[in-house]
Amino acid sequence: MAKPKGYSLIQIILHWVIAALVIFQLLVNEDVQHAFADRLDGEAMDELGGALLHVSVGVTILVLAAIRLGIRVVRGAPAPYQDTPAILNWLGHATHVLLYGFLFFMPLTGAIAWFFAVEFSAALHEIGRLVLVPTIGFHVIGALAEHFVFRNDTLRRMLRATAD
Ligand code: HEM
Ligand code: HEM
Repeated sequence: MAKPKGYSLIQIILHWVIAALVIFQLLVNEDVQHAFADRLDGEAMDELGGALLHVSVGVTILVLAAIRLGIRVVRGAPAPYQDTPAILNWLGHATHVLLYGFLFFMPLTGAIAWFFAVEFSAALHEIGRLVLVPTIGFHVIGALAEHFVFRNDTLRRMLRATAD
């Protein structure tokens, strides 16, 4: 895979927009839980507006993640800094793979639950949250450690674009 010097502007915008939308989804899901429970019970869905907000933001994440992964495959991503211990670079890479996985796993399990009323898929969606939240925490700690402990450009390169 190609190893450009940094991320492109579109990669950076997609990273931060997706991050904001994922955090929104983790915080705003009360209505969709109520509406989904009503739906399974065959009752009228009172919180439909809030539920549809969660559904549409979630589907948006799926589309943006697909675009982002496509760009990642074509353009690549910068190599990790060699001064960071190899084990930490490996952990960073594994975290990124896991996060990409969640960007597909969460919308897909949510969509199967919502559109086909599949309870098992809703359970997977909920378990997904339990793993996703610590993974994001680990990712943020890693980014801050690169910046403040290893004092390299890892955080800055997700803020400033490079042409190649
Ligand atoms: C990255 C995208 C998404 C994230 C991070 C996310 C996150 C969440 C979270 C944290 C919950 C509460 C789980 C719980 O504690 O019970 C939830 C519930 C739910 N979400 Fe999502 N969601 C995403 C995308 C979607 C999409 C695209 C749909 C549907 C098309 C969806 C449908 C649902 C449904 C139906 C529930 C209720 C499940 C239940 O109460 O058992 N989600 N979501
Ligand atoms: C909340 C949801 C988030 C998700 C799903 C997410 C996901 C990802 C993924 C998949 C990558 C790998 C990019 C690639 O190589 O294609 C990445 C990189 C990065 N993320 Fe996040 N991220 C999130 C939040 C954050 C936050 C809050 C920060 C800031 C502290 C952050 C800082 C970074 C940095 C600095 C990189 C670049 C790492 C490098 O160049 O080696 N991310 N993120």
